[in-house]
Amino acid sequence: MAATARLISRLTLVTGGGSGIGRAVCQRLASEGASVVVADISEESANETMKSLINNLRGQQHTAAVVDVSSKQSVKQLVTSIQTRYFQPPSVCVTAAGITQDDFLLNMDEEKFDRVIQVNLKGSFLVTQAVAQALVACGAPKGSIITVGSILGKVGNIGQVNYTASKGGVESLTRTAAKELSRFGIRCNCVLPGFISTPMTDQVPEKVINKVLPLVPLGRMGEAAEVADVCAFLASDDSGYITGASIEVTASN
Ligand SMILES: NC(=O)c1ccc[n+]([C@@H]2O[C@H](COP(=O)([O-])OP(=O)(O)OC[C@H]3O[C@@H](n4cnc5c(N)ncnc54)[C@H](O)[C@@H]3O)[C@@H](O)[C@H]2O)c1
Repeated sequence: MAATARLISRLTLVTGGGSGIGRAVCQRLASEGASVVVADISEESANETMKSLINNLRGQQHTAAVVDVSSKQSVKQLVTSIQTRYFQPPSVCVTAAGITQDDFLLNMDEEKFDRVIQVNLKGSFLVTQAVAQALVACGAPKGSIITVGSILGKVGNIGQVNYTASKGGVESLTRTAAKELSRFGIRCNCVLPGFISTPMTDQVPEKVINKVLPLVPLGRMGEAAEVADVCAFLASDDSGYITGASIEVTASN
């Protein structure tokens, strides 16, 4: 639970808000006073998250929205509908939508490779671009865009050539966005989670988990809320002099 209310009156957008890390981010931002647009490809999950949010802090109005982050048209529609409803673009955006479709390099088919790149990498690009364009167009004084990469984008992982490539891309996209957007007061940072307990990692076989855990000095998987803590810091003015950074949330060295 948040110790502060750093995000009162801030409009925030979280993609992938229907599950796991995205849901925890929505809950954390709301607990700090933000109004949250919970956006997900699954309407049902987005609605479930929205119902779980604290909504009694000053001026809070949450919305659930459907978006496919891999579609430019869908992302544009989302940002337009937010501006119609709230008369402003979101000044905080967390791009947590992501998928895996694992296979070994020797077997990976083109469709699986393309789909993971489209959702994870192109989706992060489309959302970052649309939010930044809206902020610049309305002359907003500041913004904070937080992308969700992965520690695996740095170190690679057997069976995930598509996923690791997409996440490496997300990290470098964020660094370039930070350089281009700082003159508009928009900060861009990337969080790199390690092994976090969510529906995504529920699919990982137990024997793999048992191999990975001994490599984590804290000896346990991370919680989605622990990634959300870092996102809330990056969203808030407490990180006002941080842009272009990648923050590992991994409990490893
Ligand atoms: N769980 C981990 O260990 C871990 C580690 C590093 C990075 N990540 C990243 O964190 C992010 C969240 O992962 P999670 O573990 O919470 O997974 P999750 O599967 O629990 O949640 C992902 C959410 O994204 C949504 N989504 C999928 N495709 C979408 C699309 N095209 N448009 C909009 N929404 C879409 C899903 O419906 C789901 O609600 C992902 O980008 C993932 O790669 C997770």
